[in-house]
Amino acid sequence: MDTNDPVREARLLVEWLRGAAGRYAWSDETDASAPRAPTPAGRPTAAGAGGAAGTTRAPVGAGIGGAAPTAPVPAAAAERDAAAPPGATTPSGGPDPFDALRADADQCRRCRLCETRSTVVFGEGPRRPRLLVVGEAPGADEDATGRPFVGKAGQLLTKMLAAIGLAREDVYIANVLKCRPPDNRPPEPDEVAACRPFLDEQIRLLDPELVLALGNPAAKALLGTDRGITSIRGQLRTLADGRRVLPSFHPSYLLRTPEAKRESWLDLQLVARTLGLSLPSRPSADERDE
Ligand code: URA
Repeated sequence: MDTNDPVREARLLVEWLRGAAGRYAWSDETDASAPRAPTPAGRPTAAGAGGAAGTTRAPVGAGIGGAAPTAPVPAAAAERDAAAPPGATTPSGGPDPFDALRADADQCRRCRLCETRSTVVFGEGPRRPRLLVVGEAPGADEDATGRPFVGKAGQLLTKMLAAIGLAREDVYIANVLKCRPPDNRPPEPDEVAACRPFLDEQIRLLDPELVLALGNPAAKALLGTDRGITSIRGQLRTLADGRRVLPSFHPSYLLRTPEAKRESWLDLQLVARTLGLSLPSRPSADERDE
């Protein structure tokens, strides 16, 4: 992206505010027919939940902030080799640690939310994502389907990613909580603490280049701050373990507060710059009519 071209920047901002960033509708309305964004060169594309393994990566580092999980995750702790293709065994013959982590989460009864959930929403995306998006917790649609960010906020998230040339399938999408809080109430601190080891292990095993923390609970969990999202959004942090985290507004907040899309767009451009992505160019009239 040419960040020195103010005219292009201004045009993209106007398109963003109008709800038409790049070749993708970016209104709050559902547009299930929107075409997929191109896969960034050199990155594998995953198919569906769990995703497929792609290229090999450098060894994974410590969890976020280098901090130890607040409680051990037995299945994942049993095997800490680099992540392998789903269903694969590790060199020591054990189950793939990411699959083991998911299986562990599926059985989780560490907090009261297990009593009311329909499904555990572990997360989905490629096993070698460049970007990990972390939201708050599953809502009703996610609880019903077992997939993260599939409701209205999820549809907006898909459009936000598309605006910087990322297909939803290119990124891993997860939440701080893997189970829906009743009536979508905010997560309780003990629920976050109980679920935290799963997120820490996801980050460690996925080893993304950048974590996009959407909303207060995600920013608080990942950055250990009590500062509100409005004051810290857009500030790229590098944690002690070298992991980069960008806090930004949650799509649900953007649905309620459309004027905040302006800041959100700045944050998305920072995501694109951090990952070295080129923003999609403005579509021709023909393309828009596709
Ligand atoms: N909001 C979230 O934070 N996560 C979801 O998966 C859906 C809505």
